[in-house]
Amino acid sequence: MLDLILRHATLPDGRRGMDLGIEAGRIAALQPQLAAQAAHEIDCAGQLVTPPFVDAHFHMDSTLSDGLPRVNRSGTLLEGIALWGELKPQLTQDALVARALAYCDWAVARGLLAIRSHVDVCDDRLLAVEALLQVREQVRPYLDLQLVAFPQDGVLRRPNALRNLQRALDLGVDVVGGIPHFERTMAEGAESVKLLCELAAARGLPVDMHCDESDDPLSRHIETLAFHTQRLGLQGRVTGSHLTSMHSMDNYYVSKLLPLLAESGVAAIANPLINITLQGRHDTYPKRRGMTRVPELLAAGVPVAFGQDCVMDPWYALGSGDMLEVAHMGLHVAQMTGQEAMRHCFEAVTTTPARILGLQGYGLDVGCRADLVLLQAGDVVEALRLRATRLLVLRAGQIIANTPAQTATLHLPGRPAAVDCRKV
Ligand code: FE2
Repeated sequence: MLDLILRHATLPDGRRGMDLGIEAGRIAALQPQLAAQAAHEIDCAGQLVTPPFVDAHFHMDSTLSDGLPRVNRSGTLLEGIALWGELKPQLTQDALVARALAYCDWAVARGLLAIRSHVDVCDDRLLAVEALLQVREQVRPYLDLQLVAFPQDGVLRRPNALRNLQRALDLGVDVVGGIPHFERTMAEGAESVKLLCELAAARGLPVDMHCDESDDPLSRHIETLAFHTQRLGLQGRVTGSHLTSMHSMDNYYVSKLLPLLAESGVAAIANPLINITLQGRHDTYPKRRGMTRVPELLAAGVPVAFGQDCVMDPWYALGSGDMLEVAHMGLHVAQMTGQEAMRHCFEAVTTTPARILGLQGYGLDVGCRADLVLLQAGDVVEALRLRATRLLVLRAGQIIANTPAQTATLHLPGRPAAVDCRKV
């Protein structure tokens, strides 16, 4: 006797009519027409069941602070960084925890059950670090939160930043961060990459750096990151976030860089909503999109995830924790409208970031944790097109959120009474 069976599900790989049997919080069976009995059954009616969404790049210490202490009038990256600097002295631990928990509630409602969040370590009090470590424990039953020690003002540029970063790691922060393009010089940026990779190697930790978040085609810290990844044997543990300068780089140089990245086992994270709004700000027309070269990275064998980056903070006043919105934007910006490319965009907010984060028990195989999302969509392309409603969100086989199906009622003589924009 199983605890729960989800019947007549469509899976992200296209298999239809699948039944998922769940026992003791895990997927115990996955096949069509499962003969077993269960205490509860749910008819998925051919709709898509997927493992939960994963956000590989977020800033939970600044989320939901939009308007504090003032709004970002220009909407630019540099005013956002300045504004965050103004807000930092006013932060309190209670407010940080409350905002982070509120965001995690939004995430759960959207079927987003794993987040890698950068946390700024440049404040000597490490208030945000302590707050997010507390949040990580509090949400653990329903959301996997991974923290990156992020020296927002530059690990070499900002006094105490290196010491604070090490203190944050001592306190239990999971990943080493960095921001080489924000150091004083190209040479110091390269030095910061070396230093931080060596620190991660010594501590046995992964690395995830904000890398080349710039329109400067000569910002090439990703090359240095790949070099030290290989030199120190960190393959599979290192991620370059943003990589927007790659958008503007010379094509010849990129043709050398892509195989180098694949060889070094570095993963890439693009943040389409933020890249498309913050990059290209000094351009008139034509105006660059700024997002890194996603299809080319994928073709070279580099794993690419899409991150949310910001929600209602000094850098971005929009967002809601909806990874389908993120993937939808990424798909458009990268012109990934082919059938296989659209599936890659769905993977970029599910299975690929799960691998980058090293999530244990993630997926739809028998034995995986029964963390599942039932979407109001018939397949992954429809899920992207509609940014589909998350009808059910399950964690370890328990329903932790549900949203009613989105259906409009029409009042038009001779036309159907209900419309939900799904394929008919
Ligand atoms: Fe970021």
